[in-house]
Amino acid sequence: MKNHPKWTAERIRALKGQARIVALTAGDFATARAADEAGAHIVLVGDSLAMTMLGYSSTLPVTVEQMLHHTAAAARGVSRALLVADMPFLSYQVSAEQALANAGRFVKEAAADAVKIEGGALRVPTVRTLVQNGIPVLGHIGLTPQSIRALGGYKVQGRRDEEAQRLLEDVRALEEAGVFALVIECVPREVGAALTAAAHVPTIGIGAGPACDGQILVSHDLLGLTPPSATPRFAKRYAELGEQMAAAFARFKADVEAGTFPDADHSYD
Ligand code: KIV
Repeated sequence: MKNHPKWTAERIRALKGQARIVALTAGDFATARAADEAGAHIVLVGDSLAMTMLGYSSTLPVTVEQMLHHTAAAARGVSRALLVADMPFLSYQVSAEQALANAGRFVKEAAADAVKIEGGALRVPTVRTLVQNGIPVLGHIGLTPQSIRALGGYKVQGRRDEEAQRLLEDVRALEEAGVFALVIECVPREVGAALTAAAHVPTIGIGAGPACDGQILVSHDLLGLTPPSATPRFAKRYAELGEQMAAAFARFKADVEAGTFPDADHSYD
């Protein structure tokens, strides 16, 4: 990835059928830098940080100001990936004008390259307004955590034929409105495959099976920083950093209590 030019929304869209897209979430400088260095095409400052970094029980409470703060930090760690800011609950639902004003803040104040909004055909006017005003939009359908109260829980979506059909209509409506790619969350693998085959823009799956054009995971899940009981089935744990962190803190505590830290190597003459 050395000297690779920065990924743009247009170049991500052109990857459809050419290469699998790798996306990771990051809400801070160090994580964004590691994802960028690993060669992720997209770094998403997902509003899941409300839960993983801020300790809320859902994504609903996180504010535009908090998301701006985290997006700006992640932006400082990214040099090649496309930096996408997740628009938080009620920052784009009220009107297309409200969405444009808030999306503009992510671009102007936090150096985001694009924004993500949740929802299907209902979001067409909003997507059009943002895209026509120069802000690339990543769509998000299937399980949309900002609608958790209406959905009644974090459940697999699109199991019934009519639900899968509605998702297909959402794909058509959103790509027509101008999204450059679509996150598809928590649908059966057959539905993920059918939506990917129908879509002209790349699909980026999270719990949507292997046929999607790309995959995204929440970095805290992937790194093992989320408790195992709170890790969704679709999230593979590639490390157990939570355990490693607790073990390192315990060793530090033991050293301090025993008077063996700091030793000569960690002190000045
Ligand atoms: O908020 C988030 O991290 C997301 C991903 C799950 C796609 O929206």
